[in-house]
Amino acid sequence: MKKYKIAVIPGDGIGVEVVNEGIKVLKTIASIDKTFDFEFDYFPWGCEYYLKNGKMMDDGDLEKLKQYDGIYLGAVGYPSVPDHISLRELLLKIRVGLDQYINLRPVKLLRGVQSPLKDKTIEDIDFVVIRENSEGEYSGLGQWFNKDSKDEYVHQIAKFTRKGTERVIRYAFELARKENRKTVTSITKGNALNYSMVFWDKIFNEVAKEYPDIKANQLMVDAASMMFVQHPERFDVVVTSNLFGDILTDLGAAIAGGIGLAAGDNLNPEKKYPSMFESIHGSAPDIAGKNIANPIAQIWAAGGMLKHFDYVNWYNKL
Ligand code: IPM
Ligand code: MN
Repeated sequence: MKKYKIAVIPGDGIGVEVVNEGIKVLKTIASIDKTFDFEFDYFPWGCEYYLKNGKMMDDGDLEKLKQYDGIYLGAVGYPSVPDHISLRELLLKIRVGLDQYINLRPVKLLRGVQSPLKDKTIEDIDFVVIRENSEGEYSGLGQWFNKDSKDEYVHQIAKFTRKGTERVIRYAFELARKENRKTVTSITKGNALNYSMVFWDKIFNEVAKEYPDIKANQLMVDAASMMFVQHPERFDVVVTSNLFGDILTDLGAAIAGGIGLAAGDNLNPEKKYPSMFESIHGSAPDIAGKNIANPIAQIWAAGGMLKHFDYVNWYNKL
């Protein structure tokens, strides 16, 4: 019997509650199917851990994670720990450290869910955002000059490499082919960001030529935001940078019924390292401990994991 070894990081707040529900679903599927099983190992990393130990994760943590087939993450964040510490030192560390360079986030209106967009149906809201997940605006590069003086200023540097840009764009086209989707829309801001986005646009045009069977579209992020709301049916596969993908997938979650229903896969497509599956909402300290958090996003993330293991083919029919 195939056994999948899963590292579970429930994290903080409602992360713990929703992960419990997701694990129940995974165990139930395995018990019905009987051809595979899971072994779950729990890791206590998160803000509680930070407050006790002064770090978000153990030393040698990434090495430990490499022994797993997948990572199932709840949510991270606590009011008393600055977000740029808690999230950079756990979530972003894993994404980058395990080269999970694809962040795949479905924007799909589930049957029975009401979109805030009047008249839009499950046929209209059904696309996938491929967000670059390893570099770009999240590179963490930059400098703080003349700190705490009246002349202080900062540089925040976005790093886009040819390798990183090409591979995410190529992934989007391959996905379109595999899932029989007709268009790939690249979302950038080349009219204002004269290096990063002009570079991305150039590479998008190059890669698009390799896929004459897929229609390649390009939009500026401002116009694309408007179109997410007015014409979501125009999107099939979206490919975009780390920051734009972050923002657009919250908007995507909103049109598909809310952040409580949105999940994402942090993928290392080559399976050289484990991929990580998570709900995209935060730890929601205001409702934590009340057992009222909606676990659907976390359960959906479990579906993403089974899909990555090539286990489910019903997934696309949801
Ligand atoms: C997300 C989150 C993270 C991100 C934060 C918490 C660093 O918003 O997964 O979308 O920006 O990637
Ligand atoms: Mn986000």
